[in-house]
Amino acid sequence: MKQLIEQTKEKIESIRIETAQELENFRLKFLTKKGELNELFTAFRTVPNEEKKEVGQLLNKLKEFAQTRFDEEKEKLGTKEEETKPFDESLPGRKSDIGSKHPLTIVQNKMISIFEQMGFSISEGPEIEDDWHNFTALNFPENHPARDMQDTFFIDGDISLRTHTSSVQVRVMESEKPPIRTISPGRVYRNEAISARSNSFFHQIEGLYIDEGVSFADLKQTLFLFVQQFFGENTKVRFRPSYFPFTEPSAEMDIFLGTETEEDYRLTKGTGWLEILGCGMVDTNVLENCGIDTTKYSGFAFGMGVERITMFQYGVKDIRTLFENDIRFLEQFRSLG
Ligand code: DAH
Repeated sequence: MKQLIEQTKEKIESIRIETAQELENFRLKFLTKKGELNELFTAFRTVPNEEKKEVGQLLNKLKEFAQTRFDEEKEKLGTKEEETKPFDESLPGRKSDIGSKHPLTIVQNKMISIFEQMGFSISEGPEIEDDWHNFTALNFPENHPARDMQDTFFIDGDISLRTHTSSVQVRVMESEKPPIRTISPGRVYRNEAISARSNSFFHQIEGLYIDEGVSFADLKQTLFLFVQQFFGENTKVRFRPSYFPFTEPSAEMDIFLGTETEEDYRLTKGTGWLEILGCGMVDTNVLENCGIDTTKYSGFAFGMGVERITMFQYGVKDIRTLFENDIRFLEQFRSLG
C-alpha cells in the first residue's frame, strides 16, 4: 500500500498540465469519486489495523498534495487565459506617433510635381563630383573664384563635393540625346561660414531643356508657369540680367512679395522682390563640351534653392533650424505633407 501511495505521488508530480483540458484530465484522474485517490481510500479499508494510522496519514498527505497541485495549475492557467482574452473594442485607441515629411521635402515634392506636369523627367547625379562635371564642362574659366578653396570642399585632386546641381546637366547631356527636358533635385555643398542665412550644404533644383529652336521666350514662359502654380496665379515676376559662366544670356528671376511681408528688411531688403532662381540660355561652349550639335540645338537652364523658398513659404527665420532635426520644429509641418 505504501508503495502504491508513493507511485501515485510520483504520477501526480510529473503529469503535464499546460491546457485547461489537461487540468480537467488531472482532476478526473485523481480527484473525483472514480479517481485514483478514491480507489486508494477504498483499498485503505483492507489495511491491517496496526498500519492504519501511518498509511492514513500518508493518504491524507497525498490527497492534499494532489489538491495543491490542482489549485496551483488552475491559477497559472487562469492568468494565462486573461492574457489571451479577446481585446475589448470599446477601449479608446492608443495613437501611434508617425513621422511627418520634412518641410524641405514638402516644398521639393511640390516643385517636382509642377515640372513633371510640364513633361520634365527627373535625373540625379553624384554628390562627389569631378572638376569636369562641376566646373570645366560648365565653362568656368581656369581662375574662376568659385573654384577657390573658399567655396568648394575639395576631397582629393580634382574631386570635390558638388557646389551646384548644374553638374547633373553635364551628365545628362553627355548621356542622352535631345530633346532633353529634365529637372535634377539634390544636395549641394559650399565651404561658407554658417549663419542664419547660409549653411555649408543646401538643396537645389536644376532644370534643363534642350531641343531644336528653344528660345528665351520658352524659358520665361516655363518659369512663369511654375511661379503661377507654386506661388499663386497673380504672382508678379521680373527677370534681371546676370552672369553665370554656363549660360549666355543669363538672368535671375525675382517674385514680388510686397513690402508688408518685410518684418526686418532681411528678405527683400525693402524692395518687395525676392530672388528665387538663376537661369539662362545654355552657353554654346557647354553644349559643345557635352557633345550637343549647336547648329541644330539650343536650350535653357535654371537653378533654384529649395531652402530659400521653404524659408519664405513657412516664415523660417534661420536656415539652421531646417537641419537640426528638432522634433518640436518638424512637428509643425505634420498636416502639410
Ligand atoms: N548653378 C547656379 C548656382 O548654384 C544656379 C544656376 C544659375 C543654375 C543659372 C542654372 C542656371 O542652371 O542657368 O548658383
